[in-house]
Amino acid sequence: MTIEIRELTPGFAGEVSGVDLTKPLTQDEAAAIDAGMDKLAVLVFHNQNITDEQQLAFSLNFGEIERPDRKSNITQDKDRRLRADMADVSNLNRDHKPLERNDRQRLFNLGNQLWHSDSSFRAMPAKYSLLSGRICPSEGGNTEFADMRAAYDALDLKTKAKIEKIICEHSLLFSRGSLGFDDDLTDDEKRGFAPVRQALVRIHPKSGRKSLYLSAHAGRIVDWPTPEARIFLRDLNEHATQRQFVYAHQWRAGDLVMWDNRQTMHRARPFEDTTEVRDMRRTTIAGEAMTTEQPVAA
Ligand code: OGA
Ligand code: MN
Repeated sequence: MTIEIRELTPGFAGEVSGVDLTKPLTQDEAAAIDAGMDKLAVLVFHNQNITDEQQLAFSLNFGEIERPDRKSNITQDKDRRLRADMADVSNLNRDHKPLERNDRQRLFNLGNQLWHSDSSFRAMPAKYSLLSGRICPSEGGNTEFADMRAAYDALDLKTKAKIEKIICEHSLLFSRGSLGFDDDLTDDEKRGFAPVRQALVRIHPKSGRKSLYLSAHAGRIVDWPTPEARIFLRDLNEHATQRQFVYAHQWRAGDLVMWDNRQTMHRARPFEDTTEVRDMRRTTIAGEAMTTEQPVAA
């Protein structure tokens, strides 16, 4: 089999065929996927009925696994449905039943419906995410992706100059706070969610392309008054998530979607989550550099 990548949206999302993710990749296959990720930023694989172990083995071709920790979630180990190196993006409890309406985990997870980049609240944020759709709802539950390179390119020169050196603070306190969930956090959780600093403009290490590093977790700009920072970031988010920058993925069981968190934002769309089942499992590839330490832009 030879890997082929067909573009679904020009220069952004691609559909990969000719590869079986239940088997170890050859070096050529891994290199083709890597090159596809560098050029596009979202890759879709269909009909991949993989186990958790196969998903992990495939993910390891692209770097080290970032583990969910107490700083990045409210789930306690005893409540985990999946192994520690996989993020549970389902709406299910340990008995495989939909979480109830007022379940704390469900309300926290609603934050995935805000445009974000995975683990931008970590000092060293994620590189890739790989989301495997095991069970999909009959309706709704799409995932949308926005191209932050195209969004950057479309800014006017004045705005590009203005944002060049901006550093933002990211935290789950900001994303969950925007949903009113912060009242529900314990002091311990709040301490764990202390903000980290991220550059607003990122440069891709291979292509050299610049992108807007936005996320619902971004809630402050260093040295700016907070309301001014919030309204400025809100405006940039509105710009960056216009339809021309977005690919919407409609899930079928067996799909695996892989995206580059350095160049994209994504969000889940709603579905009837208290009655239907959506079992999605994510492996995350750890980042390789701090955004505040990237080479200074030309
Ligand atoms: C994620 C995520 C969106 C979705 O897995 O990081 O945000 O549609 N998922 O479930
Ligand atoms: Mn996410």
